Amino acid sequence: MIRLGLIGIGQRLAHMVTCFKASDPSLRIVGVVDPDREGALARLPEPDRAHVRFFDSLDELLREARPDALAIGTRCNLHTPLAIAAAASGLPLFLEKPVSVSFAQAHALEQAFARSRSEVVVSFPLRVSHLCRMVKARVEAGELGRLEHLLGVNYVPYGNVYFDSWYRDYATTQGLFLQKATHDFDYLTYLAGAPIVRVAAMAQQGRVFRDRSLEPAEGDDTRTYFDNIGRPETGMNEDASSALLEFANGIHGVYTQVFYSKHEAQARGATLSGRHGTLRFDWYQNELRLHPHAEAATVTDRPPEGLNHFGGDGVLAENFINVIRGRAASASPLSAGLQSVYACLAARESAATGRFVAVQQVTELAPASEIPAESPEPVAASA
Ligand SMILES: NC(=O)c1ccc[n+]([C@@H]2O[C@H](COP(=O)([O-])OP(=O)(O)OC[C@H]3O[C@@H](n4cnc5c(N)ncnc54)[C@H](O)[C@@H]3O)[C@@H](O)[C@H]2O)c1
Repeated sequence: MIRLGLIGIGQRLAHMVTCFKASDPSLRIVGVVDPDREGALARLPEPDRAHVRFFDSLDELLREARPDALAIGTRCNLHTPLAIAAAASGLPLFLEKPVSVSFAQAHALEQAFARSRSEVVVSFPLRVSHLCRMVKARVEAGELGRLEHLLGVNYVPYGNVYFDSWYRDYATTQGLFLQKATHDFDYLTYLAGAPIVRVAAMAQQGRVFRDRSLEPAEGDDTRTYFDNIGRPETGMNEDASSALLEFANGIHGVYTQVFYSKHEAQARGATLSGRHGTLRFDWYQNELRLHPHAEAATVTDRPPEGLNHFGGDGVLAENFINVIRGRAASASPLSAGLQSVYACLAARESAATGRFVAVQQVTELAPASEIPAESPEPVAASA
């Protein structure tokens, strides 16, 4: 039996708990820290509700419930302080993204885990998704020649969520590079095989999504109005944002994210190019298309249909179980979470200043590329 302790079980962690249990039905939730006890209890799987215990602090949970592992699923700005508190336990940790929301947090997190035995699985489902693994395998097999260029796109069809739910609170999220692009910078880094070292970025705010209080009553149909979403001068989530990326191995990339797309306009994936070929993939289409440059031809490949979060959540859950059981290294280590945060912070700074910004590198933890890779079979998530 695995004894798991939870810190902040909201919508996201409740979903991941069902994935953990799908991977290991012996897993039990033995303790929870969450100020919303009633809501947290309702979000727990039925069998755990009868025996679970609630605690006021992580220390108390560790002492009284004696968990084998921990999972942190609070909102963004609390990930770092709670993870630092968990680091001293040395227990395996599942940590939601973004792992930090400021440079000071990221630096403190890196230092805390440089001294910790805890192995961290950062909640980055895209990098471990079946489709991304298929793309990586083709890149490594040399099907494109040496990889030279990456174009990542994210046309988000559910962008309203960043303005009509808690995500509107800039103080919590610190904007959509940290909130959204953290996933994309991570999988692009994984595919490039090297960290992002320099960024130039741009962001638009307040043109499409506008605070209702700023407008005359009739409004304007090129805009969409919400309450309490802030204003560009004081900090707010962006309508769209983009970044030019330089990777340490000389690859050059572009990433763009658009939050007012709808329905069939949705797209998330990348185009990878080398001298010998171009490969496009999209998670919504669940497909990759490879065009060898030597001939007018297209090779199409698809992972299985119907996987949750494109299969990545199930793979992450299985990897976390294997880390707890000592059978695998993390497939999404803290160094990856931090390297992505450093790139997101550089993008935010560049968008604000109009300058290229050098990306801070993770120096105190083993880089993600030195962590033994594993290729677990994707498992379908149950929720
Ligand atoms: N990896 C992914 O693909 C993915 C997807 C969705 C959300 N997320 C991330 O998951 C996180 C949570 O999002 P959500 O939608 O589940 O939010 P939520 O508001 O539903 O859940 C947050 C939970 O934390 C609890 N909480 C608040 N303060 C706490 C404290 N001091 N200690 C312990 N618990 C506390 C709340 O009561 C709530 O139950 C966010 O950071 C979000 O970015 C990640």
